Amino acid sequence: MASVIIAGVGSYAPARVLTNRELAMTVDTSDEWIFSRSGIRERRIAADDEACSDLALKAATTALADAKMSAAEIDLLIVATTSPDQPLPSTACIVQHKLGVPAHATCFDIAAACSGFLYALEIAYGQLLTNRYKRALIIGAEKLSSVTDWNDRTTCVLFGDAAGAAVLTKVAQPDIGILGSDLGADGKFADNLYIPAGGSRRPTSTKSVAERGHFIRMNGREVFKSAVRVMETVAREMMEQHHLTPDQISLMIPHQANIRIIESLASSLNMPMEKVYVNLDRYGNTSSASIPLALDEARRSGRIKPGDLTLLVAFGAGLTYGATLIRW
Ligand code: UT7
Repeated sequence: MASVIIAGVGSYAPARVLTNRELAMTVDTSDEWIFSRSGIRERRIAADDEACSDLALKAATTALADAKMSAAEIDLLIVATTSPDQPLPSTACIVQHKLGVPAHATCFDIAAACSGFLYALEIAYGQLLTNRYKRALIIGAEKLSSVTDWNDRTTCVLFGDAAGAAVLTKVAQPDIGILGSDLGADGKFADNLYIPAGGSRRPTSTKSVAERGHFIRMNGREVFKSAVRVMETVAREMMEQHHLTPDQISLMIPHQANIRIIESLASSLNMPMEKVYVNLDRYGNTSSASIPLALDEARRSGRIKPGDLTLLVAFGAGLTYGATLIRW
């Protein structure tokens, strides 16, 4: 019996810290409102000359070092992002070239918003298990500051830039690594979180720019309600499928969007907050980078030990969602 394991993880957050107090100088908000409604204190903002692939590259480099592997060994590279360097080509191809991943590797992007890292994990897992590939590098990378409307106080206080990465490989050992994943999507909620223009429905025009159509729009209350519902359902189902109770999970790493969503999830699963990883106070919502960034921090700070069970739970625009169970 073989398993697919996470052999290494890495992350990167840009140096520039943007605090709530600084934001309150440019839009009508306050540190008190942002922190009490979302749990966010500050976020990182990439430099003007830092694109999504630059963030991805740094996270990938640390993940490869952690796995003690070289880029030359990677034959599958997936980047999950909603803020790619450009519409064409894929950010994965740009990262491949910068990192030195060989030309025979399969490289592509996926668009599953904040659930993107779990979607990438599931795709790579399946491909490695069937022996189609040997070593996969999966990256969640976002420069959300480039698609944030800095005049819209209902969204600009929430998002940040970062990247996280993981190296996956197959081992001849049962019941270790990725034990299972449960992903889903419900497109009827697509209009709750979206970027209106810049695609084939509303191509870029003077009008689309004037209407600020290239920035994120969100119905926060509706997203909040959906998030609590789908995350609880998918996390519960994942544990039931594996005959586990919440007390057997050592650490839950939820998508870092809002502390109230995370607390509601933990409470409905009867999981104490001590077993839930939270870093959104320092990074805000970094979409597909959020889970691998938290995973990397948790591992490096000793919150994950050999034998531990970790439950990753995500939701995002689409509406996409998912849960992944890992034994270390
Ligand atoms: O990765 C997925 C991404 N998205 C999410 O996870 C978002 C999910 N939703 C949320 O996190 C919350 O809905 C928000 C944090 C976005 C908003 O919190 P809320 O408690 O749902 O607030 P609300 O939208 O109901 O707004 C309450 C009030 C409104 O004023 P009125 O209508 O009551 O007078 C807003 O205009 O707060 C006002 N408001 C603000 N006030 C100060 C909205 N944004 C701000 C702001 N500063 N930044």
